[in-house]
Amino acid sequence: MENSGYLRLKWARDHMGVSQKIRERFLKEKPLKGIKIAMALHVEAKTGIFALLLKEGGADVRLASCNPLSSDDSVVESLKNDYNMKVFARKGETEKEYYENIEKTIDEIPDIIIDDGGDLTNLVSSKPEIVKNLMGGNEETTTGVVRLKAMERAGALKFPMFDVNDAQMKHLFDNRYGSGQSALDGFMNATNILIAGKHVIVAGYGWVGKGVAMRLKGMGADVTVTEVDPVKAIEAVMDGFNVDTINHAIRNADIAFTATGMKNVISYDDMLAAKKGIILGNVGHFNNEIAVDDLNRRSLGKTQVRNMVTEYRLENGNTVNVISDGRLLNLASGQGHPVEIMDLSFSLQALTAEYIVKNHEKLQNRVYPVPEEIDRQVAEIELDVLNIKIDRLTDEQLKYMDSYTEGT
Ligand code: NAD
Ligand code: ADE
Repeated sequence: MENSGYLRLKWARDHMGVSQKIRERFLKEKPLKGIKIAMALHVEAKTGIFALLLKEGGADVRLASCNPLSSDDSVVESLKNDYNMKVFARKGETEKEYYENIEKTIDEIPDIIIDDGGDLTNLVSSKPEIVKNLMGGNEETTTGVVRLKAMERAGALKFPMFDVNDAQMKHLFDNRYGSGQSALDGFMNATNILIAGKHVIVAGYGWVGKGVAMRLKGMGADVTVTEVDPVKAIEAVMDGFNVDTINHAIRNADIAFTATGMKNVISYDDMLAAKKGIILGNVGHFNNEIAVDDLNRRSLGKTQVRNMVTEYRLENGNTVNVISDGRLLNLASGQGHPVEIMDLSFSLQALTAEYIVKNHEKLQNRVYPVPEEIDRQVAEIELDVLNIKIDRLTDEQLKYMDSYTEGT
């Protein structure tokens, strides 16, 4: 196909209505004029449109990937050749290349960083000459925010960072509905296996796990949730799911997804106990939720049975199939979240970057929530894009909110 990356970018832009409204203003006002932005994100079409939006707002952008398997090479080529964008990424990078590419985003000392998972933040934190120049940065995902908060607690956070993940217009849609759809897309693309009638485990019933469990149920799977949080476990029960321990549930499961942000959620011992031929996929940020390192060390051998599926033979005669080396399968084996979902997440990112430029002098070395007005602004623009009208509180109703005697 003629320059498929270019067309993918065009398709994404045409379906990112909120970003396009912001773009109209950014093109006129250039709020990021002269600002150098280093980014480590999943380099695919929607991310490309986000990077272009920042550039159109006046920024000098350098982009690497936040995962060695999640880049779309056709998009990387188009960004470089058609848009003169500085991109350092390749699908299937070695670990060494991966870190070298992230380093290249900070060759020109950045004013702002935009990270997904914390690897760029970690790198920058070890470079005093960069830290002292940084206005601040944004973090996209739950795992990155967990790391940021650990840095803040340890007094190791040396610049202001915004927690984009916990904005309502992010996790309610991206983590839940985005992962719900794209995890199944990645799974089906990798395996071509039927979901209806299967016993499927979803480990973790946070925002991502909820979305994945909901969509699996909709496709006819019998879903068992595993949790470590008693409240989330009860929530899963009341949402109509089975709840069990991983080591028990895995004995009868055909498929298991991890969505926790925790390491070793499916351990080698769990795999020894698993139903023969189980298919394992991870939706969490890092590739340590399924004990792939232990599988590589301890299994008797492995075969690449499909493009994105590796079958391991265990010492007790068991076999397990792992999708995309345990890396987040919605991006490594699929196309990432749907376009309209990333439109919301990246709109929050763009407006928060603009906020940093305007307010950096007042910020401290803390993890900040995205300002509520930005969350609401993205919601209002999305309603406008969807051409949906909602009611507004009348003056009388606003007054009622402040009264404590009326209505008794
Ligand atoms: P969350 O904090 O809302 O939920 C995680 C859940 O996992 C919690 O309820 C926690 O109790 C549970 N958990 C922790 N350890 C567990 C264990 N050993 N067994 C079972 N459950 C356990 O987080 P989230 O927003 O749902 O994100 C989960 C992961 O997905 C993170 O790594 C996040 O960065 C990632 N993420 C991935 C994508 C994607 O596109 N693939 C998108 C958004 C988030
Ligand atoms: N596409 C680009 N970034 C993504 C992310 N963080 N999650 C899912 N799909 C994406």
